[in-house]
Amino acid sequence: MSNRFLSRCLLIAAACLAALPAFAAKPNVVILATGGTIAGAGAAATNSATYQAAKVPVDKLIAGVPELANVAQVRGEQVFQIASESFTNEHLVTLGKRVAALARQGDVDGIVITHGTDTLEETAYFLNLVVHTAKPIVVVGSMRPGTAMSADGTLNLFNAVSVAASQDARGKGVLVTMNDELNSGRDVAKTINIKTEAFKSPWGPLGMVVEGKNYWFRLPAKRHTTNSEFDIEQIDALAPVEIAYGYGNVSDTAYRALADKGAKAIIHSGTGNGSVAARVVPALRELRANGVQIIRSSHVNGGGFVLRNAEQPDDQYDWVVAHDLNPQKARILAAVAMTKTQDSKELQRIFWEY
Ligand code: DGL
Repeated sequence: MSNRFLSRCLLIAAACLAALPAFAAKPNVVILATGGTIAGAGAAATNSATYQAAKVPVDKLIAGVPELANVAQVRGEQVFQIASESFTNEHLVTLGKRVAALARQGDVDGIVITHGTDTLEETAYFLNLVVHTAKPIVVVGSMRPGTAMSADGTLNLFNAVSVAASQDARGKGVLVTMNDELNSGRDVAKTINIKTEAFKSPWGPLGMVVEGKNYWFRLPAKRHTTNSEFDIEQIDALAPVEIAYGYGNVSDTAYRALADKGAKAIIHSGTGNGSVAARVVPALRELRANGVQIIRSSHVNGGGFVLRNAEQPDDQYDWVVAHDLNPQKARILAAVAMTKTQDSKELQRIFWEY
């Protein structure tokens, strides 16, 4: 065999090896569609805020971003087609079980959930608490419908699939990719209701995703997914937990009404540091004595946390504080935790740890 022939064989072999990455099997990502603005449609391209949510089916969402095929093998399932303000506990459990089932499959490497932005933060936190997988789970929405000029849904969806397909997103809990940011599903909340930079985490994002590459600067500090004591496989229904809003001139009417309707815990969405109006305290103490858990949160937007025994003698009243969780996230944690415990000291531990 001549040297010339041998060197040509080596060149061809090197070219084949160099081409391998392009043809290497791409990660398998499943998109579970639930509705929302990312599936919305308006009458004209100028309608960035006037549109109907939950109209576009998942296959059309995928077809609208052909670049998804560059980062993953993608397939879609239409789990719901609703505006997210209409999510119920039952929707959460159904979605959680589907996500967990897919996460167990060897041919699924990552999962994306497309979702309305109104309650996206609640679903993301719920999945963070109950799905036992290290595989990336990414929840994504958009603030403008795909029919609008400068729609944000296509890039948000591309980023979500790219993150769900990436190895370095494993083990970081449920993530939310909106507006190029990587946020923890635990921390992030919708803080602006009419801008594309709507989602913020009070302690900062975990990082950014830019042109399909993840840049990490922080890691989640609280328990999640594989390190959670809660498992969707053992949950068929969430505990009935409701929220009552605190404000000047508030009375105890809402708290009593919620308890009468069967609430097992009431999240007090308090002013300031979860403060409770003097004329409401007797009712909350009475409800606590009747077995209803009282959990103090704060509706102060943008961060901070409720201090135990600061604004109220929580030890004496046997109340719980929601730590840094906003009222809607506190409801999710209490609804999950109370599938396992009715003990207020156990609940307080859980609020410190999750
Ligand atoms: N109806 C709202 C929802 O489905 C639309 C908001 C959105 O998805 O951005 O959450």
